[in-house]
Amino acid sequence: MTCHLLIPAAGSGKRMGADRNKLLLPLIDKPILQWTLEAAIASEAIAWIGVMAQPHDYPDFQQIFNEISQLKPIRLIQGGATRQASVFNGLKSLPADCDRVLIHDGARCLATPELFDRCDAALQRMQGFIAAVPVKDTIKVVDGLTIVDTPNRDRLWAAQTPQGFHLEALKNAHLKALELGWEVTDDAALLEKVGLAVQIVMGEETNLKVTTQQDLAIAEFILKQRSSSNKL
Ligand code: CTP
Ligand code: MG
Repeated sequence: MTCHLLIPAAGSGKRMGADRNKLLLPLIDKPILQWTLEAAIASEAIAWIGVMAQPHDYPDFQQIFNEISQLKPIRLIQGGATRQASVFNGLKSLPADCDRVLIHDGARCLATPELFDRCDAALQRMQGFIAAVPVKDTIKVVDGLTIVDTPNRDRLWAAQTPQGFHLEALKNAHLKALELGWEVTDDAALLEKVGLAVQIVMGEETNLKVTTQQDLAIAEFILKQRSSSNKL
């Protein structure tokens, strides 16, 4: 157990259309964030967890931390205005002995402990990686409403988290992004922009990001399937 994990959880969940951060919404019998944290706690690889949050969510988040196993330290870190800013705050709050970091969206509450363990193992061999799955749909590049390209599906992967990096490389990429005003939706994109190699680790089909009400219903279905197959 040596791995440090940062969980961006400082969004507002606009696309969910709820009256609060979507990570506080109940999924079966507990908040979305609690599912994510419990999987991370069950992972053998993870030793320390930092959760980036907006201060108005601190009391509710703290209550979730109190509900779950205290076997691993969980730290609240102030989030930023964008996911990128939240991650940067997290990077600055890591303990001094940390040289590699995993980042996993709070909204990906179906990732399994085994996926975290595989990602940690990958980070021993790679400078940077993302969990991803091959896309099943044919993807079109569109300008206005006109298709301009149909990329070969064999080369297309859907990005997930966890993503993992050597800390120094990721911090430098974030600093460069601040300096040059780059805005991206995941950390791998920053490393790609500075020309560093980022590899793929096989993700999980069920590792969806809960974004809309429909995702919440799908997540509930998957979790119920899991719990009934565990009872067999
Ligand atoms: N996130 C964050 N800080 C922000 C924005 C997002 O830490 N300023 C986190 C979210 O809490 C989420 C993850 O980044 O766990 C992925 O973002 P997304 O799914 O887009 O969540 P929200 O930004 O909350 O949702 P929306 O875009 O619909 O508002
Ligand atoms: Mg968002």
